[in-house]
Amino acid sequence: MREERNRAIGVFDSGVGGLTVVRSIRRCLPNEKIIYFGDTARVPYGNKSPEAVKRFSREIMEFLRSKGVKMVVAACNTASSLALPSLKREYPVPIIGVIDPGVREAVRISKNRRIGVIGTNSTIDSRAYDRGIKKIAPSCRLFSKSCPLFVPLVENRFLTDPVTYQIAERYLRDMKKKRIDVLILGCTHYPLLKKVIGDVLNDITLVDSAAAVAKTVKEVLNRKNMAADSRRRRADVKCFVSDDAGRFKKTACIFLREEIRVKKVAL
Ligand code: DGL
Repeated sequence: MREERNRAIGVFDSGVGGLTVVRSIRRCLPNEKIIYFGDTARVPYGNKSPEAVKRFSREIMEFLRSKGVKMVVAACNTASSLALPSLKREYPVPIIGVIDPGVREAVRISKNRRIGVIGTNSTIDSRAYDRGIKKIAPSCRLFSKSCPLFVPLVENRFLTDPVTYQIAERYLRDMKKKRIDVLILGCTHYPLLKKVIGDVLNDITLVDSAAAVAKTVKEVLNRKNMAADSRRRRADVKCFVSDDAGRFKKTACIFLREEIRVKKVAL
């Protein structure tokens, strides 16, 4: 059992965005080893078909399982929206997605029961957040908007650039009229745009699901008696990518703010 507890947690995303989730897990569970996979050869997932995203996610699951992980976090809203139910059916390992933790947090803090969500085209089109809200708080109203230009803006470090403000104003114009009090950042890249989104939608609480996911990971590990030995030193993060490790490493530092080892692998 002890061996099993000290195995790594597998975390995956289409690229670097999932590192926002890794950062939260590291803060909350510093003793947990993490094996991260970023599918940089096939990013973005946000405009791919459900079939393609399911296939990519399955291939990544096989890779992470070959590394002996004890749990998997699908740290990608698009993969969580489109592939999570089938992955859960197909693999016996605990798998945590980013949708439900974000929904639970939004429902917990919303006072007027009017919640917004922004994400990639595929996430919004999948209506996964609508189903999530319906399941736990059917009296809440959800307003959705896809913001496909946000991902390239983050990856090009236009985090507080005037052009980012302009695009955010345009995307969020309608959201402003919906009288929401909480907005879910339904894409792992968006926490890096918190300043801009917060300025455009002032007085609206932003839910960064990364922190909510880390809380869920901790709960599940404790419940299943699978948390790593707390006497261990701060554990490391190993990253694997499907394309150019050097480029990933450069962008990764804006997300994770710590040195990481990155290796390119073929799935
Ligand atoms: N990480 C993805 C997500 O959270 C965004 C990037 C992509 O489109 O692949 O949806």
